[in-house]
Amino acid sequence: MNLTPLHQFGTDLLSKYKIDSTKKDKAFSQQFLKHISTIENLFDEVYAWHPKRNEAFEALLVTLIQQYKERADVFLKKDIKKSKLGHWYLSNEITGMSLYVDRFSENIQGLQKKLAYFKELGVNFLHLMPIFESPEGESDGGYAVSDFRKVATRFGTLQDLQNLIADMNTSNMYLMLDIVLNHTSHHHEWAKKAKAGDPYYQDFFYFFDNRGIPDQLDQTMPEIFPESSPGSFTYVPELNKWVMTVFHHYQWDLNFSNPNVLVAMMDTILFYANLGVDILRIDAPAFIWKEIGTGCQNLPKAHTLLRLIKQCTQVTSPGMALLGEAIVAPNEIIKYFGTDKYTANECDVAYNATQMALQWDALATGDTRIMLKAQHPILQKPYGCTWISYTRCHDDIGLGYDDEIIASTGFDPYHHRTYLKNYYAGSHDGSVAAGALFSVNPKTNDARISGSLASLCGLEKAIAWNNAGEIENALRKIILMQAHSMFMGGIPMLYYGDEMAYTNDYSYLNDPGKNYDNRWMHRPIIDWTKNEQRKIKGSIEYRIFNETKQLIQIRKTLPILSDFSNVTWMTPHNIHVAGFIRSFENKKLFCLFNYQPADSFVTWYTFKEHGIRPSQLKDHWTGLTHNVGNDNEFFILGGYQFAILEVIS
Ligand code: GLC
Repeated sequence: MNLTPLHQFGTDLLSKYKIDSTKKDKAFSQQFLKHISTIENLFDEVYAWHPKRNEAFEALLVTLIQQYKERADVFLKKDIKKSKLGHWYLSNEITGMSLYVDRFSENIQGLQKKLAYFKELGVNFLHLMPIFESPEGESDGGYAVSDFRKVATRFGTLQDLQNLIADMNTSNMYLMLDIVLNHTSHHHEWAKKAKAGDPYYQDFFYFFDNRGIPDQLDQTMPEIFPESSPGSFTYVPELNKWVMTVFHHYQWDLNFSNPNVLVAMMDTILFYANLGVDILRIDAPAFIWKEIGTGCQNLPKAHTLLRLIKQCTQVTSPGMALLGEAIVAPNEIIKYFGTDKYTANECDVAYNATQMALQWDALATGDTRIMLKAQHPILQKPYGCTWISYTRCHDDIGLGYDDEIIASTGFDPYHHRTYLKNYYAGSHDGSVAAGALFSVNPKTNDARISGSLASLCGLEKAIAWNNAGEIENALRKIILMQAHSMFMGGIPMLYYGDEMAYTNDYSYLNDPGKNYDNRWMHRPIIDWTKNEQRKIKGSIEYRIFNETKQLIQIRKTLPILSDFSNVTWMTPHNIHVAGFIRSFENKKLFCLFNYQPADSFVTWYTFKEHGIRPSQLKDHWTGLTHNVGNDNEFFILGGYQFAILEVIS
C-alpha cells in the first residue's frame, strides 16, 4: 500500500534525523506517525493561510524529533511506567504543594535539603513557582520571563535544578513547572530584538502604529490589573508603537498567529519536559488567542493551540500531563478538558477555581446553597481528567461563578458579592477576616480578594484580640477548608505556609518592586524557627501541621478518593452543611462539612436516600464509629467540623 504524502513526509523526516524506527526508537516513530495527521489538522486550523505555513509545519515536526532525541533514558522509562499506570495523576496517593523556592528555602539547593520535610507532611508533588530568569522588580512573581531556559541566579543553576529533580525522582516525587505561554518580559531577547527594529521578532508580538486598533480592543478586553496596569496596551517609545500587554505593562503578549512563535514555544515546552516535568502548568492559556471585537479570552483557537500542544507532547513526552491554568467562568473552565472529538484530549488537569471560590462563599455566609447550585458544570469533567483542588494559591481569589447562580438561590448578586468582598477585606461589621481587595475596577465595581488562608479564616485578628474562642474557630475553619478541597476529587495542592497557618506578611509594602501588588501579602517568607514549632504540642503550628498531615494520610489510605469522577452530591437537608458521596465499586464514603460556627443537625435519613441503608459508619477523621439511627434522629456535626464517613455495614 502506498503511504499518504503526509505519512511519506513524516517517514522521510524520521530517517533524515536518524530515528531508528524498527528498534530503539520504535515507540516514538509509531506515536509520531500516529499523531501526524491530527497535528497537521490542528496546525492548519490556525495557520493554513500563513505564507510560511510549510516551513513552520516542518520546523514543528523537526522540533518533536530533536527533543525526543534529547530525552534522557530515565524519563523514557518513566513514560513507560506511567503509561502502564494509565491516568496516573488521578491517584489518591498524590498530594502537592506550591511554593516559591526563594521564599521557602532561599534557593534550589536549600529546597533539596528540605525534601524530608515534604515526606514528613506527606507531600509528594511540588509545584515550583517560576524559577527561570525574570527581572527583579518587574517579575510578576516570575511570570515575566526574560529567559525560558536560564534558571535565575537567585535560585541557583540549571544543574542545581537537575540535581533536585534527580533526588525527587529517587524519592518517587512528582514535579510541576510553569510554561508562561502568553507573554514574555520586555527584557526577553525576542522583545529586545523587536525593540531594536528586527521585523522577524517584531512579528513575535502585537505591535500597532497608532491607537486605532488598541482603542477598539480596549473596549471589549477585560482589564486584568486595572489599578497597576490599566488597559491592555503599552507605548514603546523606541519604536513609536503600541504593544499588547494584557497583564502588566512589562509583560508583552506573544503573537500566536505567527507560527514561528508556536514552534519556539513548543521547543521550550519540550525542553521542560526533558528536564523531567510530570505536570506542565500552562500559565494563562485563556489569553493566547486574540480577535478584534471579542474579550480575547477562551476563544476557539486558544483551544486549538492547546490541543495541538497536547498532541505534540503525547508524541515526544507522553508521560507529561498538561494543566491548563484557566481561571475563568465555570462553563468555560470545563472546555479546557477538550470538547467534542477532543473531549479528554486537551488539558489533563485544570484548577477547580469554581469550587475554591464557592468554599470561600460558604465560609463567609455559613450557607452552602450557592455551592450546591453551581456544581453542574464542575461535574461535567470528563473521565481521565482531573482537578487541582485547592483553597489558596499565590493568586487572588476571584468570585468567578455566574450571577444567575447567585440569583437562582434567592440572593441579590450585587449585594451578595459586595458582602463577600467586604467580609474578606475585613471591613464588614463583625468580620474576623483580614484580607484586602485586589484589582478593584472602579468602572465595573469588580474586585478580587487577597489574603492568606489563615488570615482570611480569622486567625490574624483572633491572635491580635487574644480571643481563644475565635482562635479555635479560625483553626477549625482552616482545616475544614483544606479537608473539603482534599476530599472533593482531584490533586490537592497545598499552598506553602498554609500547613503552618502563616498569616499575612505585610513586608511587601516596603519593596517598590512589590508594593503595587497586594498578592504579595499571601506569599510568605518561611521562617524555619516558626516551622520548628510543629514539634511543640499545644502550638498552633503543631495542630495545623498535624491535622493537615492526617488529612493527607486519610486520603492516601482510601483509593475511593482517587478521581474516578465518582462524586455525587447528597440531597440537601441543612443549608449549613455541604455533603457529597464518593463511590467506588461497592464502597461508599459520605463526606460532610459544616460551614457554620454552631452545631448542625442532619437526619440519619440523609444517609439512606442513595440506594443503600447503612447501619454503621466509620468517621476517618475522628476515628469514631456511629450506629445509624432512626430517620427522625440526628447526626450532629460541631461548629466548622466535618466527617468522612465510610459505610462499614
Ligand atoms: C497567571 C499567574 C499569575 C500571573 C498571570 C500572568 O494567572 O498565576 O500569578 O500574574 O498568570 O502571567
